[in-house]
Amino acid sequence: MKKFYHIITYGCQMNVHESEKIAGILSEMGYESCSSPEEADIVVFNTCCIRENAENHAFGNIGMLKKLKQRRRDMIVAVGGCLPQQMNKAENIHEKFPYVDIIFGTHNLHDLKSLILKKLASKEPVISIPEDDGSICEEDVPLRTSYPNAWVNITYGCNNFCSYCIVPYVRGRERSRSSERIIAEVRSLVAEGYKEITLLGQNVNSYRGELTFPQLLETIANIEGKFRIRFMTSHPKDFSDELIEVMAKYPKICHCLHLPVQSGSDSILAAMNRRYTSGQYLEKVVKLKARIPDCAITTDLIVGFPGETDEDFEATLDLVKKVNFASAFTFVYSKRQGTKAAEMPDQVPEEVSKARIMRLVELVNSQTRSLSETYLGKTIEILCEDYDDKRGMYMGRDEYGRMGYFISSQNMIGKFVKIQIKQVNGISLTGSAVV
Ligand code: SAH
Ligand code: SF4
Ligand code: F3S
Repeated sequence: MKKFYHIITYGCQMNVHESEKIAGILSEMGYESCSSPEEADIVVFNTCCIRENAENHAFGNIGMLKKLKQRRRDMIVAVGGCLPQQMNKAENIHEKFPYVDIIFGTHNLHDLKSLILKKLASKEPVISIPEDDGSICEEDVPLRTSYPNAWVNITYGCNNFCSYCIVPYVRGRERSRSSERIIAEVRSLVAEGYKEITLLGQNVNSYRGELTFPQLLETIANIEGKFRIRFMTSHPKDFSDELIEVMAKYPKICHCLHLPVQSGSDSILAAMNRRYTSGQYLEKVVKLKARIPDCAITTDLIVGFPGETDEDFEATLDLVKKVNFASAFTFVYSKRQGTKAAEMPDQVPEEVSKARIMRLVELVNSQTRSLSETYLGKTIEILCEDYDDKRGMYMGRDEYGRMGYFISSQNMIGKFVKIQIKQVNGISLTGSAVV
């Protein structure tokens, strides 16, 4: 009898990659992937708690499984990831959803097999949320699902404690993997045919293995073969000249940098504990642009941080105008229990935050659209990632991260394709393949 698993993933790339590790564990146990919870023998929720809506989303979907679980008592429901790792949350999940069979955290993903076996042997739910023990598990072999891209962790956890952020509490202290292991992993991925390697860490610039981050990047860029290198996320305070030099020197490293600024106001940046000023951020951007003029810079922005005044918000708009981001993720501040900012006075009313984010989104979109227009008639190289059924077109991104669509009668996934842009629609580009 075949057994099936279904994984539902929320949150960042880190979680997407961790779901690949969960899939690896389940497939090693003999489970096969299926496309809906109805067919599954085990459903795993890999959750996120970065903002309240991420949490609510997961809670809503776990709640929806209640009926299915009543019909299919043998089905195992597991909830893992960042959400249950928060203080008292595992108990909370257990009370709210008593039918959840397994609750695990971010530090014991590699124990999932034994947790499942334990559950199969007992009627009681299995709840296991260990604290960060500072270790790194190198045993899990991910079942990669995002060919031609492959995610590679370089660090886990975060030590920055930005005052609004829950990540340091749920992911533990920063740990760097050994450079030797990372390089070996990338080498074998390239040999297997992966065309884009994305190095992952909450703050890749503070990576400390046998090598520093720029040295690691340089070593990877020297691996033979045609492939792209990306990395995320860079914290502006640790973004160095040395890194700019390595990015400029190796064509394999995409001219694309995600550099979250969060706010343009110095007093808000200080309250956020970001440890740079808007001036220092702009200085880094100017240096980067001087050395790599075509570099696309993307960012994250938060509006409505406690105490944010109209002037503070205007400073954010000013900074966005100055940098001219290729794109940006914009968020309304969300209060996270246990963080410093949750205790701060002057929480900004929702209507004010909403009005601010609308203005910000408008500005960011207008910048993205004008950048799109510069693409018209140009020929760009994209790495074909997937086929879009709705549009009946293949799609892929250029080195700057911009998505391009084209028609082909052959399967182009995993190939570098040159396309000439014929049509621009907001953020998406449509072109025809050039031979
Ligand atoms: N380590 C990365 C990103 C972590 S989370 C970094 O430092 O950039 C991704 C983004 O979510 C952050 O950059 C921030 O903009 C946003 N974010 C984090 N906590 C938030 C909160 N409490 N409310 C709103 N947005 C938040
Ligand atoms: Fe959160 Fe700041 Fe760490 Fe990023 S650097 S994960 S925003 S604490
Ligand atoms: Fe969310 Fe955890 Fe990532 S809180 S953003 S899944 S590190």
